[in-house]
Amino acid sequence: MTADYTRSWKIGSLKLSNPLLLAPLSGISDLPFRLLAKEQGCALVFTGMVSAEGLIRNRKKSEKLLQTCPEESPLAVQIFGARPETMAEAARVVEDMGADVLDINMGCPVRKVVQGGSGAALLKDLERARAIIQLVRKAVSIPLTLKVRTGWDEKNLNILETGRMAEECGVDALTIHGRTRAQGYGGKADWNIIARAKEHLKIPVIGNGDLTSLQAVMDFFAQTNCDGAMIGRGALGNPWIFRQALEILRGELPRAPTLKEKEAMILRHLGMVVDMRGETHGLKEFRKNIIWYTRGLRDNAHFRSRIPFWKMVSEVSEQIKEYFQKIDSPLFFT
Ligand SMILES: Cc1cc2nc3c(=O)[nH]c(=O)nc-3n(C[C@H](O)[C@H](O)[C@H](O)COP(=O)(O)O)c2cc1C
Repeated sequence: MTADYTRSWKIGSLKLSNPLLLAPLSGISDLPFRLLAKEQGCALVFTGMVSAEGLIRNRKKSEKLLQTCPEESPLAVQIFGARPETMAEAARVVEDMGADVLDINMGCPVRKVVQGGSGAALLKDLERARAIIQLVRKAVSIPLTLKVRTGWDEKNLNILETGRMAEECGVDALTIHGRTRAQGYGGKADWNIIARAKEHLKIPVIGNGDLTSLQAVMDFFAQTNCDGAMIGRGALGNPWIFRQALEILRGELPRAPTLKEKEAMILRHLGMVVDMRGETHGLKEFRKNIIWYTRGLRDNAHFRSRIPFWKMVSEVSEQIKEYFQKIDSPLFFT
């Protein structure tokens, strides 16, 4: 098992060095987040979903949203929309911007998105999905991927039909989140359905859902034989999950980050976000990351309770350093 899961593989013409991918996470998987995942060994990173309509109407704003840099390459950009022509035009913009992969969102469960006929709504309207994919396929030459759910609800589990349609239209890989639209993010991801789809489809299958621990990643590969594993929430405040998962897949002992490494990572991540968004906006954006990074650490409740009061980067950095110094001390007891 070990050798197999760390081999290189391909999505269309794109060669990937290992099977681990960072999920599109709207409002979270921005450039700093993606860079850190990449640095820890993640083979392919995804932007959060970007509206195709918005991309075309306000290209300047979209370019800002899709800010990238050579170090994070290869990059997959995800778009959503309901109109084939708009999606094809947006796809061209994405290709022009230098993305390595174009990903179409067919899984977003949010009411506003679904009501507009895009995201998971396309699982109920495969003819429209087909029209979108065909036009997008003609519009761009970079690898094309789809991110889907197992179906609309448990009575409509149409993943095989969706997968076959994708294959016929020239999609290069399929990511399956093992939940239905009706499940939202609740319940458990069904890896058995993913395994069945992998068995029946010819294109590479990337599985997703509840890969939140190293054990889960191991179990997932053993159970599904998928080509790739896409990690979402498991990477929040934990970019090391990629390095550790690779270690365990190689049959090595995974090395947990030390407190010093955690502290250094938070400070660097903070600096990157502030550089990109400016002090006020950047700090506000970064708060959630501090919460995620300090999950499970000693005395974190008190430390976290003060986060809303911090207004300057220098202050936040000082507080982080002080906190880590305190919990790293042999004299510290809670
Ligand atoms: C805050 C948040 C934002 C998300 N944004 C997107 C998105 O923009 N596009 C998408 O395809 N999926 C999105 N997802 C779904 C994730 O990519 C992933 O499919 C889901 O979280 C299950 O994987 P996980 O259990 O590893 O988190 C989002 C999930 C969360 C929690």
